[in-house]
Amino acid sequence: MKPAAPPKTYRVKSFGCQMNVYDGERMAELLGERGIAPAPEGEEADLVILNTCHIREKAAEKVYSDIGRLVKAGNKAGKAPMIAVAGCVAQAEGEEIMARAPAVSIVVGPQAYHRLPEMLDMAANGERATDTDMPAIAKFDALPVRRKRGPSAFLTVQEGCDKFCTYCVVPYTRGAEISRPFAHLIAEAQKLVETGACEITLLGQNVNAWSGEDDKGRSVGLAGLIHALARIDGLERIRYTTSHPNDMDEALIAAHGDVPKLMPYLHLPVQSGNDRVLKAMNRQHTAEGYLRLLEKFRAVRPDIALSGDFIVGFPGETEAEFEDTLSIVDEVRYAHAFSFKYSPRPGTPAATMDGQIAPEVMDERLQRLQSRIGQHQFGFNQASVGKTCQVLVERKGKLPGQWLGKSPWLQSVWFEGDYAIGDLVDVTLGEAGPNSLMGLVRARLTA
Ligand code: SAH
Ligand code: SF4
Ligand code: F3S
Repeated sequence: MKPAAPPKTYRVKSFGCQMNVYDGERMAELLGERGIAPAPEGEEADLVILNTCHIREKAAEKVYSDIGRLVKAGNKAGKAPMIAVAGCVAQAEGEEIMARAPAVSIVVGPQAYHRLPEMLDMAANGERATDTDMPAIAKFDALPVRRKRGPSAFLTVQEGCDKFCTYCVVPYTRGAEISRPFAHLIAEAQKLVETGACEITLLGQNVNAWSGEDDKGRSVGLAGLIHALARIDGLERIRYTTSHPNDMDEALIAAHGDVPKLMPYLHLPVQSGNDRVLKAMNRQHTAEGYLRLLEKFRAVRPDIALSGDFIVGFPGETEAEFEDTLSIVDEVRYAHAFSFKYSPRPGTPAATMDGQIAPEVMDERLQRLQSRIGQHQFGFNQASVGKTCQVLVERKGKLPGQWLGKSPWLQSVWFEGDYAIGDLVDVTLGEAGPNSLMGLVRARLTA
């Protein structure tokens, strides 16, 4: 490869989960440290980072077509951008990407992106650079101090997964479960609050598996971390996602009753309402066990909004087994939920199981499930009408004087007035739609 000029501008495109978005932000910060600026809106960047996701099908194909598009646009403009592929597809298919896409200069996995600056130097010298090592925690120590500004921030506290659900690539792309140290997390949270965050969402593939030693040397779980974060002045709201039912402990359940800053929201995927399917998925819990767990949360926080993830059409799923999923949705009455068609992932046990389900059947099941989830979500929003709560202002609405923010239950709330992003506004929830509510402003609590 011929040497390329060192890039002056960058664009990071993140395609995955919130942790992937967090990684994208941190890569942008690294580039900022090196004096590389975000490309202005509408302008081609000198360096494009495709921060990929591998969770469902067509992820890799999408990467190749994005690369093709970038090369074509570059040829037209007479200047091809430097292309880096990051994220979980880079981790899973790095070698193949290097072989198939000569336009790619850098392949960097989710645990190795702290090495991006050196890799950029190599690329500028005309060498191609690949790093898909998984050195556990090294990445975080090597990253610059956070500079993100904004009212709501992500903070990755835990990475990786040891659960090996039979359909899932995450244990392969993100590696084993590791927890970042308590002191580092408190320091990063303090920095985020200093730079304007009043809400922090703690992230992990299994965030409730986080464990560590607090400032007094005691072993604590996620609840201990949440209690400590709640003592940070200026931090008003704490959330966490995503949890696994088997990593839930009594202390975390109790925290929902004891810590006012911990928002009344729980994302706890169950994937299926049928025990045979759950077993084949290697979820290691039953539908009944999951429901009992949710009851405990409702006991300490009766208004808690529940959210989940579902997969339809897992290999061998019968119509009756799918209906068990509809039943659990009715029983829980989710405030919100994500649902997906099963996607066979290369290298996972489920991909070669008998009884792969026809696409039409999956489409039909997904539609029925989504309409059921939608009904409950609308019902939850309708039941919220008349409640008074704080809304965190996140952005301007389409109309002048209109703002959009989030309720404690993570609903989108529209309202009017003279506000600024980051304000916490006291609002009475008015008219409810399927995806949002109108708020009537009562008082402005912070400036
Ligand atoms: N660690 C989290 C979430 C991981 S991925 C958890 O266990 O809950 C996010 C969601 O993607 C999963 O909850 C699952 O619903 C979905 N998912 C993962 N692999 C999938 C696959 N092969 N096909 C379809 N959906 C999948
Ligand atoms: Fe994937 Fe299961 Fe791990 Fe979640 S718990 S990341 S679904 S293997
Ligand atoms: Fe996707 Fe990797 Fe997240 S596969 S969902 S970006 S952990």
